[in-house]
Amino acid sequence: MFRRMSEDTSAIQVCIAGTGSYLPERILTNAELAATVDTSDEWILSRTGIRERRIAAAGEFTSHMATHAARKALEQAGLAAEDVELIIVATITPDTPTPATACYVQQSLGASRAVAFDISAACSGFLYAMKISKRLITSGAFTNALIIGAEKLSAVTNWEDRSTCVLFGDGAGAAVLRIAAPEEGSILATEMGTDGNLTHLLNIPGGGTACPITSENVGQHLGTLTMMGKEVFKHAVNRMKEAAEKVIERSGLQPEDIACVIPHQANLRIIDAIADRLAVPNERVFVNLDKYGNTSAAAVAIAFDEANRSGAFKRGDHIVLVVFGAGLTWAAAAIRW
Ligand code: COA
Repeated sequence: MFRRMSEDTSAIQVCIAGTGSYLPERILTNAELAATVDTSDEWILSRTGIRERRIAAAGEFTSHMATHAARKALEQAGLAAEDVELIIVATITPDTPTPATACYVQQSLGASRAVAFDISAACSGFLYAMKISKRLITSGAFTNALIIGAEKLSAVTNWEDRSTCVLFGDGAGAAVLRIAAPEEGSILATEMGTDGNLTHLLNIPGGGTACPITSENVGQHLGTLTMMGKEVFKHAVNRMKEAAEKVIERSGLQPEDIACVIPHQANLRIIDAIADRLAVPNERVFVNLDKYGNTSAAAVAIAFDEANRSGAFKRGDHIVLVVFGAGLTWAAAAIRW
């Protein structure tokens, strides 16, 4: 019988040794979007909280952004690229269908000893990668891991569809995990879940084996993101609340013990609803979606790095990361910093 694995019983503890992020230079404002589709700064800001997003240059690929973010995380961790043992890139916008974007990142970092592969779990990918790599470290297979969320969503956005094009952006975030010393913080609990009955709510319908892009359908935007926004909204709030509650409880914490919640950056109204339901004051919830929009797997990773570098939490603080995405997928992690 299938038995769900409980939280680690391993004596090995895993900490976050460094974080990094990268955003492309080009800023696309709400006002610029309003000049090309039937929308307004007021509508976008009031419905989502987004003011602007970053757009990667034509020759700037997901692996390039991932590499920039990774270098910063490695530098903060004091880990040389050649000593990285595992690289996981979470993305739905790989440079190429194969090989994995992680292979390009391994090459550009010079991390020649690392095993490298991608995972596809949409906006939840970075925390899926955190759980997977934590388990691989506690199992004894590796002593460290570089996890990266990186996306070039501008390449899979229908720029004529106002209901989606205002939401997304490009960027990358990274973190280095390694075996923690006894006095260091650690990842206390992780949670991830999937509901494959809801694949239709948020997807890119074309470009895979189910619906290849052909000369007949090439103009139909089948290779771009489609979403049933209201339905996604409802599930996002419920699933993120449940996942966050699980990791808080399994860590033996109370909501008032959490110094900082770092949620997926999709919609400010979703974030406010989660803060409210978790009974965590808004000032303890990290938000940067006004600057970057929703960057899928990169979003929580970029927010994690900005929160870390801006001093939103300090050594010994408890923090919670929580995400939600296409699949539907969701995940959370509780960390003692
Ligand atoms: N500008 C102006 N009007 C827009 C618009 C835009 N960019 N996009 C949609 N509208 C219109 C709709 O056409 C609709 O008009 P109608 O009432 O005349 O039909 C109206 O605004 C309301 O649309 P609706 O979709 O009901 O708005 P909403 O309040 O649900 O907000 C989202 C839309 C997408 C912002 C919101 O549903 C959302 O954020 N959902 C979750 C999305 C998400 O998090 N996705 C990522 C998960 S990882």
